[in-house]
Amino acid sequence: DQPRRVIVTIDGPAGAGKSSIAKRLAGRLDLLYLESGAFYRAVALMAVRQPQFLRNSQGLEDFLATFQLQVVSKNEGFRLFVAGQDITAGIRDPEVSRIASQVATLRPVRQWVHDRLRQIAGSGGVIAEGRDMGTKVFPEAEVKIFLDASLEVRAHRRWLELQNQGNTLRENAILEDIAQRDRRDRERVEDPLSMPPGAHYIDSTAYDLKRVEDICLHLIQPCIKTG
Ligand code: DC
Repeated sequence: DQPRRVIVTIDGPAGAGKSSIAKRLAGRLDLLYLESGAFYRAVALMAVRQPQFLRNSQGLEDFLATFQLQVVSKNEGFRLFVAGQDITAGIRDPEVSRIASQVATLRPVRQWVHDRLRQIAGSGGVIAEGRDMGTKVFPEAEVKIFLDASLEVRAHRRWLELQNQGNTLRENAILEDIAQRDRRDRERVEDPLSMPPGAHYIDSTAYDLKRVEDICLHLIQPCIKTG
């Protein structure tokens, strides 16, 4: 099998469907799926467990210098381990979501995540999903997508997802949470969420996953190089 080379970025606000789409596309196109949010979530989970490292900038630097996050990737998914412990499920906790958007405002944390992502991406063949993939981490990407949807629809989708996992949060509380995260992600100084120059804008408010997937496939397929 020839390696397939292309860098695809999908950016957008929380709950727009970036992960679902990126996972499906990675499977269909045999590309590596890179979920940048998971790296911020991993740092956030550690901050919940060991809050002392966020007390000052030296503590943060020391923590990041020694933080060993193990990423075990498969085409359509990955698992994260810290010191042999599987944290893949733990990072999805709503409290961790909130703290992730806070630690993501810190320059050293962003630098650490960027370095890891570039290292894992290697020479290409990836779909990277997040807030600053097309603007900052992979500015050279051949295909850039900005995936959006109304706040109400994004909150509803997240509510359904959490309900399937047995979570009983009210939809309104989720909407408030997402609105606040959006604000923080868009207004922060360091690599704020914004539409990358040259990106294709897709508003998925009225689309199902299949429709968004088809639009993306049309954009990506002509750009894939093999060998
Ligand atoms: O995509 P997500 O909701 O799992 O991301 C969690 C938080 O991580 C998000 O609120 C902001 C931060 N994040 C970021 O700052 N930059 C990225 N590229 C991806 C996520």
